[in-house]
Amino acid sequence: MTQVDQSLSVDSGNSQASAVHSTAADVSRQDAVLDVQTAILKRRSIKSFESTPIAPEILRRLVELTVAAPSSYNLQDWRIIIIQDDIQKQALSDAAYGQQQVLQAPATFVFAADPNAWKQDLTPIYQQGIATGAWTAETVEYFKLAIPRFQMGLGDKGREYAIKDAMIAATHLVLAAEGLGLSTCFMNGWEEDKIKAAIGAENDPDLAIAVIIPVGYASEVRGNPGRLPFAYNVFVDKFGSSYKG
Ligand SMILES: Cc1cc2nc3c(=O)[nH]c(=O)nc-3n(C[C@H](O)[C@H](O)[C@H](O)COP(=O)(O)O)c2cc1C
Repeated sequence: MTQVDQSLSVDSGNSQASAVHSTAADVSRQDAVLDVQTAILKRRSIKSFESTPIAPEILRRLVELTVAAPSSYNLQDWRIIIIQDDIQKQALSDAAYGQQQVLQAPATFVFAADPNAWKQDLTPIYQQGIATGAWTAETVEYFKLAIPRFQMGLGDKGREYAIKDAMIAATHLVLAAEGLGLSTCFMNGWEEDKIKAAIGAENDPDLAIAVIIPVGYASEVRGNPGRLPFAYNVFVDKFGSSYKG
């Protein structure tokens, strides 16, 4: 966690305003669906949430949109744990240096990543690919050879590659939530061992925690801290050749 992250999470007084919503507003905000561009631009990392629960059908939609994310070879090697229980929230907050978002939000998604997912029986993935018509039997036969070859070739990078998939799914969640009138906060400020203990994965040494994301209705409005001009970090063809836009 950066100093900025720490100061933002500790000092929620930085927020510009506190929003209290009526029941009617609750209904309308759940019905409103933002287009992708608006959701991307409107999203802020929210550090303070109402206790208002997420309706089960909205939560289910969020899960559907999250796991619609792509993954390498469609392995879907994320392991997502939705924390809703108060004792579990406390354990998560303790693991996250006492950050309050996970105590306040009605649900926090823990995105874990399993670097050994490819060693499991992949039959359900293959069968689905064929049933949908997306893959042929030849595709599947190719994957049966290619997946072990590729994954074994990764060596120590297997963990990193699994985390990539989990982070993509996490990004789907964040934008889907925004689109449905909910708010989120990507969180990297936590101790992995403690998060793993909280979710009951302390005996799985290879499982990695990618990110945790509280989801709920914002009780604050946060300003956009802005982004650097493209010239700092967007290049054309070669590193150093700034994109002029
Ligand atoms: C991977 C990642 C980890 C983050 N970890 C934390 C965190 O632990 N606590 C926190 O309060 N904010 C955290 N943030 C939020 C950032 O501070 C925030 O994204 C940044 O200041 C830009 O603000 P914006 O998200 O509103 O655009 C994290 C963001 C990302 C992308």
